Amino acid sequence: MSPVVNYKMSELKNDRFLRALLKEPVDMTPVWMMRQAGRYLPEYKATRAKAGDFMTLCKTPELATEVTIQPLDRFPLDAAILFSDILTVPDAMGLGLYFAEGEGPRFERPIRSKADIENLINPQMDEELGYVMAAVSMIRRELDGRVPLIGFTGSPWTLATYMVEGSSSKEYAKVKGMLYDQPQLMHMLLDKLADTIIDYLNAQIEHGAQAVMIFDTWGGVLTTRDYNEFSLRYMQKIMDGLNRESEGRKVPVIMFSKGGCQWLEAQADAGADALGLDWTLDIGAARARVGDKVALQGNMDPCVLYASPERIREEVATILESYGKGSGHVFNLGHGIHQFVDPEHAKAFIEAVHELSPAYHK
Ligand code: CP3
Repeated sequence: MSPVVNYKMSELKNDRFLRALLKEPVDMTPVWMMRQAGRYLPEYKATRAKAGDFMTLCKTPELATEVTIQPLDRFPLDAAILFSDILTVPDAMGLGLYFAEGEGPRFERPIRSKADIENLINPQMDEELGYVMAAVSMIRRELDGRVPLIGFTGSPWTLATYMVEGSSSKEYAKVKGMLYDQPQLMHMLLDKLADTIIDYLNAQIEHGAQAVMIFDTWGGVLTTRDYNEFSLRYMQKIMDGLNRESEGRKVPVIMFSKGGCQWLEAQADAGADALGLDWTLDIGAARARVGDKVALQGNMDPCVLYASPERIREEVATILESYGKGSGHVFNLGHGIHQFVDPEHAKAFIEAVHELSPAYHK
């Protein structure tokens, strides 16, 4: 496939995020925040109001570009993340995504049977998902080499939870019911999703994504055996199918199974360049367990941002000290930033990482 990135590619002015993911030397620890473009920012709320609703915001490349850049104009972040959602994929497969006000995502046509799986649309990356690719291209152009752009997807298992439940869930009754009662159906769905996701991430890379992240938000609700069989295995399939080089550079892959710290060793062998960590595991202990196999991304509790800037700085210092010297750490929160956090506290967090981390890279 010929590259679709048809504008003149400028050199990256700040590549410490990509370097840290590949464990190459850096001057300081790079930092970004999951959900860095979002409702805690008044300018995001203003653009979202202009769009009318969340999906229109995702589907209008100019507006998606605007909100992607907003946190970078406020804070010295080391990476941008495509503004979109993991549920664009099931939506493009025909499930009819909508957001009921105050209730989170819902699907008009959830998956309940073998026929539902067979009838899923095989989405085309330049048609049903063309708006995502248009946003990736436009964001790259707008970034003009400022920082790298992260593309992303949900994991097959995490997408399946929404597709079978039809909404967010607390108990996973329907999706786990299918997993235990009709495992062959679950495999059929996960396999289809993995194939689509391979195309989806490769298309993002082709349009200019410089690293990609797999969000396995609900991997941690599975038993150890089921995590391996129904989640990790399909993420491994995706990583085997990705184009890991573009524009003459490696495209690092970050895998994040929230609640999955107990399976770190298995994750480190799955083929990712880096693992995302939630806040429950000490990052120094995680580093000792994965050794040189992968870089680590994380892992401050997002709730620390409700504390004072001084307390936030202390927590940053503790995490940096725990990781220790050397490259291979991308600082982040252990999950997305909450909507009621004061942006000034996010700023204190990011600045603390940059001020305190150079000592660990001498
Ligand atoms: O990180 C970023 O800034 C990039 C944008 C991004 C969004 N969602 C924007 C968004 C990313 C990477 C996601 C991923 C996503 N979406 C995940 C995996 C990551 C995670 O948080 O575990 C999941 C599970 C979803 C599904 C989803 N999308 C839910 C459950 C919701 C409702 C959440 C809520 O708090 O209401 C969304 C909507 C959503 N996606 C919002 C944003 C900024 C809020 C929508 C709004 O403006 O009202």
